[in-house]
Amino acid sequence: MNTLVEVKDLKKYFNTPGGQLHAVDGVSFKIQKGKTMGVVGESGCGKTTLGRLMVHLEESTGGNIYFEGKDITHAKGIELKKLRQKVRIIFQDPFSSLNPRMTIRSSIQEPLRIARNPVEEMVMRTNQLMDMVGIDTRLHLSFPHELDGGRRQRVGIGRALAPNPSFIVCDEPVSALDVSIQAQVLNLLQDLQQEYGITYMFITHDLSVVRHISDDICVMYLGQLVETSPSKELFKNPLHPYTKALLSAIPSTDIYKKPKRIMLKGELSSPINPKPGCRFLPRCPYATDACREPQKLEEILPNHFASCCRVKEIND
Ligand SMILES: Nc1ncnc2c1ncn2[C@@H]1O[C@H](COP(=O)(O)OP(=O)(O)OP(=O)(O)O)[C@@H](O)[C@H]1O
Ligand SMILES: [Mg+2]
Repeated sequence: MNTLVEVKDLKKYFNTPGGQLHAVDGVSFKIQKGKTMGVVGESGCGKTTLGRLMVHLEESTGGNIYFEGKDITHAKGIELKKLRQKVRIIFQDPFSSLNPRMTIRSSIQEPLRIARNPVEEMVMRTNQLMDMVGIDTRLHLSFPHELDGGRRQRVGIGRALAPNPSFIVCDEPVSALDVSIQAQVLNLLQDLQQEYGITYMFITHDLSVVRHISDDICVMYLGQLVETSPSKELFKNPLHPYTKALLSAIPSTDIYKKPKRIMLKGELSSPINPKPGCRFLPRCPYATDACREPQKLEEILPNHFASCCRVKEIND
C-alpha cells in the first residue's frame, strides 16, 4: 500500500470558559495515494478541526501527522511554506473564503505569487487552471459576487490546485451549492483526481455524497473515530451502533425493503471535559456497564475497524 498521509493519535483541545473542549481526541488513520478518504459525522464532531489540523491551520495538542512518510506535525518556516504548496484546502463557503476585493485571476494566482513564480508563468498557469476547473477565461476580471455559487467554488478549487498539490482537504465543498450544481462540482473533483492523481480527504455530513466519492470512510463521533473501513464495506456492513443509526437514515431505493430507521434518543454529550468511556453511551441502544471503560479502535473484520466493546455481540 502506498500511504500519502497518516495521522497517529491526533488531538486538538480548545480551552473554553467551561473547560477543555476535546474537538479531536486521539484520531488515527492512513490515506492512500490517489484515493479519497471520506470523513462523516454529525455537526460538531470535529470534522473541520481535523481538516484544519491536516493543513496546519490549527496547531495540534498532541499526536502526529505524517506526509510522504515525514513527520510534519510541527513544520515551521520554509518547511511549512513548502508544505502549504503540497497540502491544500477547499472550504465549504467559497464566498467567505475568497477575498471580495480580488478578481478571480488574482485569487487563483495568489498561491503562485506567494511562491514567487515568474509573472509569465503565473499568467499561463492561471489560464490553464481556469480551463481545468471549467471557468471561462473571459471571466478573469470578475469579482466573486458576480459569479454564481458553483463558479465561485470552481475558483476555490482553482486556487487550491494552483501550486500543483498532492493532497487536498475538501471541507463540505458542495454543501452550500444547489443540488444540480453539486453533482457538477463533485464530478470535477473526481476528474481532477483521475487526471492528476490527487489525494483527497473529503469532509461531509451527506452520506450519499460520501458514498459516491470515497474509497475509504472514517466515521467520527464527538472528536473520536468510531469506525473506518473501505467505503463499500462500510455501507454494506456497518458495525458500530452509531454508524448503523447514521446509515439507517439514508432513504432506501428498494420499494420492497422496509426502511428500518434507527432513531437516536438522548442528547449529544458535551465535548467539554468528556468522560473516559464511550462517548456514544448516552444514546446507544446496546450500552452496558462495560461501555463506561475507554474504547479502542480494533480490527473487527479485515481492514474494518470499530471502537465498541459490544461490537461482536451486536453483529452476531
Ligand atoms: N476555535 C475554537 N474554539 C473553541 N471551540 C472550537 C473552536 N473550533 C471548533 N470548536 C469546537 O470544536 C468542536 C468541533 O467543531 P468542528 O467545527 O470541527 O465540527 P464539525 O464536525 O466540522 O461540525 P459541522 O458539521 O457543523 O461543520 C465543536 O464543539 C466546536 O464548537
Ligand atoms: Mg465543519
